[in-house]
Amino acid sequence: MQTKITLPESDIPTHWYNVIADMPNPPAPYLGPDGNPVPPEAMLAIFPESLVMQEVSGERWIPIPDPVREALTLWRPSPLYRAHRLERALNTPAKIYYKNEAVSPAGSHKPNTAVAQAYYNQQAGIKRLTTETGAGQWGCSLSLAGQMFGLDIRVYMVKVSYQQKPYRRSMMQTWGAEVFASPTDMTESGRKILAEHPDSEGSLGISISEAVEEAAGREDTNYALGSVLNHVLLHQTIIGEEARKQLAMVDDYPDMVFAPCGGGSNFGGIAFPFFADKAAGKDVKLVAVEPTSCPTLTKGVYTYDYGDTAGLTPLMKMFTLGHDFMPPGIHAGGLRYHGDSALVSQLHQEGLVDAVAVPQLETFDAGVLFARTEGIVPAPESCHAIAATVREARQCAETGEAKTLLFNLSGHGHFDMSSFDRYFAGELEDFDYQESAIQESLRHLPKVG
Ligand SMILES: Cc1ncc(COP(=O)(O)O)c(C=O)c1O
Repeated sequence: MQTKITLPESDIPTHWYNVIADMPNPPAPYLGPDGNPVPPEAMLAIFPESLVMQEVSGERWIPIPDPVREALTLWRPSPLYRAHRLERALNTPAKIYYKNEAVSPAGSHKPNTAVAQAYYNQQAGIKRLTTETGAGQWGCSLSLAGQMFGLDIRVYMVKVSYQQKPYRRSMMQTWGAEVFASPTDMTESGRKILAEHPDSEGSLGISISEAVEEAAGREDTNYALGSVLNHVLLHQTIIGEEARKQLAMVDDYPDMVFAPCGGGSNFGGIAFPFFADKAAGKDVKLVAVEPTSCPTLTKGVYTYDYGDTAGLTPLMKMFTLGHDFMPPGIHAGGLRYHGDSALVSQLHQEGLVDAVAVPQLETFDAGVLFARTEGIVPAPESCHAIAATVREARQCAETGEAKTLLFNLSGHGHFDMSSFDRYFAGELEDFDYQESAIQESLRHLPKVG
């Protein structure tokens, strides 16, 4: 009875998989406020040319540079697990597998793209990177990658997470980064928010505005985004590439693939390599799992919107709750984002990617069950994928179907124990669907053209 399915270092993928090559329709272009497509050169103010080229590339396979593969050897290939103990606890005929991305130094999938982004910026002669972080996982990952490739890192951390997770801040500082609770009074965007909402808890959208504003104003500084953009999802596809290979080693293939979905990077990372099979006719369901309190794919609208709160980014066609929607302070900080990856959004709109929303308490119920059976304490974001998988496995117990389920354990929850404490103390709540706040925010969608 095999539990861990592992690959040797030589099996770290040599290429990233670009889903654009297999999408039935080309991606909707990014637009400027005038409604015209943004030329790739316009992105050079904050990104190196190599990443801008990846952002717009239609090539199916993009080679991974050797220094990036070498950095990845620190934790990759990550193990695939068969969750025998969880299956037994659920008394389900379903087979449950999970890809363990918690084994990276930062504790999640985020370093997969952080090392690539740091490498390309270093190659372009950049000295500093600014970024946002919600849960703190991305800020840690970029801090680690900055240390590896000799870049200074400044992190704007969403205020509610800064307060909930002080040790994430310490970890970023250990890797040499500067960290500020956002909104700050250091940027125009931050000052504007503070003037209107002095007690603002912050949001990913606000932190992105602050980081982009600073990078756009400095020659030696670029910006790095931890999710949403095509090149970020591209770098994460090594998760699904490895998982596909590992499942083949035990002669299995998933009926359903689940991942938590904030900006879409770990979902795209595990799901897109299976999408290649789906595009070729294979029957596999790809399910993005989000919180009911920030239900971008399940309740948002598919339209052009800004990626940040202040409206500094190009307009992206995506599912959105409105760029100034302020999600409730749930404990899955990485899922508190108003929008979603344009690629995931388009595939969802076309019916090729499914989505489901799960309430907060159900995610913690599932996370605790997972910790008590499989041993790993999952990140609150990952608990969303676990909850959706558990729902399906319970369904299989009722119907007797022996489906093969795969989910992405996107990270561990070692810095989230205060959230688990509150869950055990009965202090966590299920936030209602924020209908009126979402409707209000959708009234502020930009008019295109
Ligand atoms: C552990 C973990 N999982 C999932 C996410 C969601 O991000 P994404 O949708 O980009 O994978 C985050 C974001 O911070 C995270 O830290």
